[in-house]
Amino acid sequence: MLHLILFGPPGAGKGTQSKILISRYNLVHLSTGDMLRIHLKEQTTLGVEAARYINQGLLVPDEVVIDMIKEHIESNPHAHGFIYDGFPRTIEQAAKLDELLAARGQQIGLMIALDLPDSLIRERMCKRAEIEGRADDAKDEVIATRIATYHQKTKPLLDYYSTQNKCVQVGGAQTIDEVSQCTCHIIDRLIQHG
Ligand code: AP5
Ligand code: MG
Repeated sequence: MLHLILFGPPGAGKGTQSKILISRYNLVHLSTGDMLRIHLKEQTTLGVEAARYINQGLLVPDEVVIDMIKEHIESNPHAHGFIYDGFPRTIEQAAKLDELLAARGQQIGLMIALDLPDSLIRERMCKRAEIEGRADDAKDEVIATRIATYHQKTKPLLDYYSTQNKCVQVGGAQTIDEVSQCTCHIIDRLIQHG
């Protein structure tokens, strides 16, 4: 079973590329950001609690997202594989995911890391704020906090997966088509050669 992590800073194109990959490889898309936004919209207890973090550009507590991921893996027993978008985002989350998969006799196959400069991240999020109206894209200070949080808490995962020989970087500043061509090439190789 294929377990792929699509990694990158906010606005890197994780969601955009995930949509392409799930249909091409018949994978289940697990985006913790999308899951949390559904809770926000439906004003669940979890959503009201999570909004306090999301609206400031901070990470919601690890146990909240780990429980969501566990539930979604368990509710898709017949999946061909999963693509993780926006998860894991801390070393703690990565270690818990490893544990969760090991208990099922499975493991992460690869982390594809989209790389792009902070200036482009800001540009993309401002543009998306106009189109999609996501609250956490609308304020400069929230964008700045999201970028800082990425550098401080999430970027260390590059080392976490590199030391396991599971990290491949892709230039995220390329066009959507170019990024997906590179990404599909990497996944095809992984499927063929393991
Ligand atoms: P989340 O929803 O995961 O947001 P994010 O990581 O900040 O990433 P985005 O969704 O903003 O960007 P993306 O990489 O998906 O890019 P996209 O494809 O949309 O998280 C939101 C919040 O939820 C977090 O801040 C946190 O509070 C909480 N949260 C979520 N997961 C968590 C976790 N695991 N732990 C704790 N807290 C968690 O593209 C961006 C824009 O650029 C789009 O408009 C797109 O059309 C455009 N675009 C994409 N690719 C290209 C390209 N190649 N060229 C030009 N434009 C492009
Ligand atoms: Mg996204």
